[in-house]
Amino acid sequence: MSHMLEISGVYAGYGGGDILQGLDLALEERTITCIVGPNGAGKSTVMRLVSGVLHPRLGEVRFLGERIDRKAPKQILQAGIVQVPQNRSLFPGMSVAENVRLGGYILRDSALLERRYAEVSELFPIVRERAKDKAGSLSGGQQKLVEFARSLMLDPKLLLLDEPSMGLEPRILSQIFGVMVEMCRQGRTILLVEQNARLGLESSDRGVVMESGRVLLDGAARSVLGDERIGELYLGGRAH
Ligand SMILES: Nc1ncnc2c1ncn2[C@@H]1O[C@H](COP(=O)(O)OP(=O)(O)OP(=O)(O)O)[C@@H](O)[C@H]1O
Ligand SMILES: [Mg+2]
Repeated sequence: MSHMLEISGVYAGYGGGDILQGLDLALEERTITCIVGPNGAGKSTVMRLVSGVLHPRLGEVRFLGERIDRKAPKQILQAGIVQVPQNRSLFPGMSVAENVRLGGYILRDSALLERRYAEVSELFPIVRERAKDKAGSLSGGQQKLVEFARSLMLDPKLLLLDEPSMGLEPRILSQIFGVMVEMCRQGRTILLVEQNARLGLESSDRGVVMESGRVLLDGAARSVLGDERIGELYLGGRAH
């Protein structure tokens, strides 16, 4: 079977030894896969690997059948993979509209850029309502929605979402995850990393538990959520 994204036998690190130690992971098209695991497990490193910031020492990454593990980040963006990073990433002093347009900075066609901007602001009311406001004046949750909006400017096939719930109030998390599910329904494939394991897995199709740069457990999100081995470790007690 061919997968949208296939990571096989990857060893990768930052120069001081391997962080990813023989990682295997394959994503089905139009699904949400959630990676959970303790701090330092290598979750964000997987995102850096897929987005081309980090190249593997061994192993390969294929996207739609094609090797991408030696490509530069810009080529990977052009291929249709966009990452929303773990930390806040909007330019606080620039307007919401300017920030969103920046998501399409590699588009040469300005008519296409404007069309995408119109589509994205249709999908995200916050972009319309606060277009002229400085991004830094928005709440954390609103900023995350604007980051999602910005990530759609290239009409990506694969979205990499690194801990979208980080630092946000619990009451807006269901909205953030609801938007994620909606983006998947509209045909995008999503790789999610989430510390909030329960919420992440509940919104996902597949769950992957990582530890020390390897996949410890991989299966239907529901079964990973219910797995007693991870209940204690990552979910703060039994799942049910
Ligand atoms: N730029 C870097 N240079 C050197 N080491 C790094 C770098 N980034 C991450 N590491 C190391 O790689 C390991 C995995 O980090 P990574 O950020 O992938 O973890 P994570 O699973 O995303 O953790 P968290 O849940 O805290 O976000 C850690 O030991 C970290 O110190
Ligand atoms: Mg991380």
